[in-house]
Order: sequence, then C-alpha cells, then structure tokens
Amino acid sequence: MDENTLQEYLSALPLGPLRYIESTGSTNDLAMDWIEEGAPHLSLVVADEQTAGRGRNGSRWYTPPGSSLAFSLVLYPEQIGEFALPRLTGLGAVGVCTALQDEYSLKARIKWPNDVLVAGQKLTGVLVETAWSGERLQSAVLGIGINVAIDSLPLDIELGHPATSVESQVGKPVERWTLLREVLLKLVFWLEKINSPEFLQVWEENLAYRDEMVKLTQDGRELYEGRLLGLDRDGALCLQGSDGSVQTIQDGGLQLRTVDSL
Ligand code: BTN
Repeated sequence: MDENTLQEYLSALPLGPLRYIESTGSTNDLAMDWIEEGAPHLSLVVADEQTAGRGRNGSRWYTPPGSSLAFSLVLYPEQIGEFALPRLTGLGAVGVCTALQDEYSLKARIKWPNDVLVAGQKLTGVLVETAWSGERLQSAVLGIGINVAIDSLPLDIELGHPATSVESQVGKPVERWTLLREVLLKLVFWLEKINSPEFLQVWEENLAYRDEMVKLTQDGRELYEGRLLGLDRDGALCLQGSDGSVQTIQDGGLQLRTVDSL
C-alpha cells in the first residue's frame, strides 16, 4: 500500500487528510504530533507496522507488518461536542463491532471498556488519548488496532486475554484495506450520532457478558463483583451486587472477567 492509493481508496469517506506510513512506533504518537502541526478534524494516520504500539494500562500492542490494521483518528471537542469524550472508546468499539457483524457476519461483542471479542477472544483494542490545556480538552486521538491475518498474533508472549484474528474467525483471507474502509464508514456513521440515545443503545446491546456475573480486578485484586446490567450515559459500567444495589463503575484501568474465568 502507499499513501496515494489508500487516499484514493478512502476518497468517498468524509475524512480529513491521510498520512500512511510503512513503519512507525505508534500511530497515536504520529497523530498527536500532527495535531501540534495543525491536523484538521478527522485526520487519519495509518501504519502497516508499529514497533511500539501501546494499549491500555501501559500494555504493548503488536502490529507486525502486512497483517494487521493500526490507525488513529484526530478528533476535536468543538466538532464532536465536549460531552462526547467518555463515549469515544465506545465509538471505536462500536465501529469495529458493527463492521464485523454487518460485513463479515461475525458475532462480535464489546468487552468493556475497549476490546472487541469474537468467540470470547480479543481481536481489537481501542486506545483513546487526549491533550489538555488545564481543564480544557484540546484534542483526542482515537487509536484502533485490529488483528486481521492469522500471523498478526504474537506466538511467544503472554497476552492479557486469549486473542484471535478476523481471518481465523471468517475462515478465509480478508482484504485489510477493505476492512479499514468498512470500519471507517461505521466510525463516521456513529460519530454523527455519538451524543444520541441510539448510539448508547447500540453500544450497550453489543456488550459482552450482559446479564452474566462478572468481576472487575486491578493488579490481580478483585474490586467489584456483580451482574452486568449495562452502561450509564457516559459509558460507565452498571453492575448489580448480590444485595440488589447497582454500582456504576468508571473505566479506571480495571480488568473485566466473567466470574467463572480464572
Ligand atoms: C488495548 O488493547 O489496550 C488497546 C490497543 C490499541 C492499539 C491501537 S493500534 C493504533 C493505535 N496506536 C497505538 O499505539 N495503540 C493504538
């Protein structure tokens, strides 16, 4: 792939300018640098390979060349509404989840707050990073990594959650750039509706483990346990404890598991 061809391929989408790079540390870093240079809303950075891709809580994210999708979208609060910020991780997850469902008939689900699972295994991670001026949000970068080919998965390292790829789930080769276009189409569609009840409903309906007993842990310590009811309007998780009370839990680096998993 090269920048002009990809630009042409994505030209029907209402996006900002594109930067395509063969290899970089992290597309989120490139997007942040570009913001400093004045990147417009919906500028897009795509890389074939990331050498220092990162995930939530300082985890590493692997993007070997030729096998994955790694991209970052630049967003500004003036364009999306300042209250949309807590919904951006959900936007990334809903975009990937609905593209996988509609285009590849995969039963994709969102593992709160930022993973997309198929068959209980992770194939996408979302990482939103922000720049602030004091208390004011200046910009946000929505970074998404998708394991597309079977060899996008590292064999020799410990992953936080069992992982899979789109191709292993679809059972045949998947064209990466077609998938990218389909995911971007969904992202643009849902971004328009990000402040609507409809978006919240789709996000909630696609949650993994709904009505199941789950626990939330941090550094191996269990902090909450309860039945997963859904989300509040900011995407915080609503759990019902054994005494019937409902707790609302913000994403603070917690790990979600079903109660019967290890
Ligand atoms: C996670 O699973 O914790 C989130 C992973 C997010 C990975 C994407 S790939 C594109 C962007 N660049 C990064 O360094 N991370 C995100």
